[in-house]
Amino acid sequence: MDTLQNLHTLRETARLGGGAARIAAQHAKGKRTARERMAALLDPDSFVETGMFVTHRAAGLGMENDHPAGDGVVTGTGTIEGRQVCVFAQDFTVLGGSVGEAHGRKIARLMDIALQNGVPLIGLNDSGGARIQEGVDALAAYGEIFYRNVQASGVIPQISVILGPCAGGAVYSPAITDFVFMVEEKAHMFITGPDVIRAVTHEDVDFETLGGAEVHASRSGVAHFTAPDEDTVFAQVRDLLAYLPSNNLAAPPCITSDDDPRRLTPELRSAIPTDPQQPYDVRTVIETLVDGGEFLEVQTAFAQNLVIGFARLAGQPVGVIANQPLILAGVLDIDAGDKGARFVRFCDAFHIPLVTLVDTPGFLPGVDQEHDGIIRHGAKLIFAYAEATVPKVTLILRKAYGGAYIVMGSKHLAGDVNLAWPTAEIAVMGPESAVNVVFRKDLAAAADPDTCRAELIRRYRAELANPFVAASRGYLDDVIDPAESRARLIAALDFLRDKRQPTPKRKHGNIPL
Ligand code: HXC
Repeated sequence: MDTLQNLHTLRETARLGGGAARIAAQHAKGKRTARERMAALLDPDSFVETGMFVTHRAAGLGMENDHPAGDGVVTGTGTIEGRQVCVFAQDFTVLGGSVGEAHGRKIARLMDIALQNGVPLIGLNDSGGARIQEGVDALAAYGEIFYRNVQASGVIPQISVILGPCAGGAVYSPAITDFVFMVEEKAHMFITGPDVIRAVTHEDVDFETLGGAEVHASRSGVAHFTAPDEDTVFAQVRDLLAYLPSNNLAAPPCITSDDDPRRLTPELRSAIPTDPQQPYDVRTVIETLVDGGEFLEVQTAFAQNLVIGFARLAGQPVGVIANQPLILAGVLDIDAGDKGARFVRFCDAFHIPLVTLVDTPGFLPGVDQEHDGIIRHGAKLIFAYAEATVPKVTLILRKAYGGAYIVMGSKHLAGDVNLAWPTAEIAVMGPESAVNVVFRKDLAAAADPDTCRAELIRRYRAELANPFVAASRGYLDDVIDPAESRARLIAALDFLRDKRQPTPKRKHGNIPL
């Protein structure tokens, strides 16, 4: 009885983490404790904790007098919608959630079992970073975590949820994982904080402006999802997992959809404005096409000229990539290259078919874009599409000009089924630019240049900038009535369900980074 009582006492102490005062301080900041977060994220009563009694073995700077059970991180397994996941949650009430040798070993062990058992890994981050008192052992612990993040990449989905500080080299574990979630105003990610920046570059900046959720969601592209509070962020994690397989040997989770796979979409006949310069929201097209209009957009605020996200067609998860004519006319720029390439590679790693909707005038011209590396970043998207072996179905809605035609899932990069609406414009460049180049002398000599230009543009559209030239070459499999779009996409994906595409034997390619 005494031993059992002892166990219960030890458990109770461990569950109290850093003690009542620090828990109160955590709550006062509007944050939960690690165990409260586990309970909020996972299915009720599904959490099985491991390593509750792990303690550090550090000495010096007072560490020898304090051995908190669990060492500032709660680790274990649980379920989300009945599916197994491995989760760690850093406990800020214990030594500021800082990462020392034992703390790091617990996370590394969890990563090992996630990888061995093909189970997604979710990290709930709230930490002061490397535990200062443990010196190089703390750095070693991070190194072990980074190594495992890389080994697990493309094998199991890895999700990082940032719920507090995530500073210094600590940011690189989330950065290697597949999806980063941040809670507004509570989560901050940066390599060096405001004080160091002030000392080194004399810039004055606060935590939020430097590394808050908003800036990482819209400018740096580090964050894929943000939410105003922890409950919403956990709901987002659960939503995302519903589209993902547990590992790279499993199929993505299919469901029975009550949305008719043969449903016609006549409303799409008027999706494209009659004026080719007019924008429209491509998300309306996506929502019309997919099951129940449900589209989980990823990185909504970053590179908004390219829309990416998950949806279902006939119950099967798909990754959707679409140019967004509403923003910068849907051009491809540096950020869009990065955003699209990473998404394509994620879907390819986890057998999620790619559905590409094309309406782009091409790559964004500009000195800044050139000097900042549009060549290198645009090349990522080509590389990603070309190396992807998942089913690739492409539908050209309107503009597909120049290199952007090739990049966006064309037949030439091994697109499997390539379709276009009759409104598609496929050519080297848009009519106005093309006419100015090819007919410069005729325009200069014309008595009425405007009428002459209008006639030349009409001829260019009729003879070149339409889908039938590409269809006549076999670069398109068909030109379809927009009303048939959903049914044709689903038919293509049905056919491609067991696609196998061997690739050349090599260690790995060398994607331009
Ligand atoms: C040890 C730490 C700690 C750390 C915080 N604590 N960070 N202990 N190592 N890195 C402890 C504090 O001493 C304090 O203990 C408790 O955690 C809570 O911290 P507070 O400062 O009271 O909390 P708050 O005011 O909310 O500030 C949070 C904070 C701040 C912004 C994270 O603590 C901070 O700036 N910490 C240092 C961050 C940092 O520079 N880390 C190293 C980054 S470099 P008591 O006992 O008083 O409650 C790095 C390199 C990794 O991580 C390299 C990997 C490759």
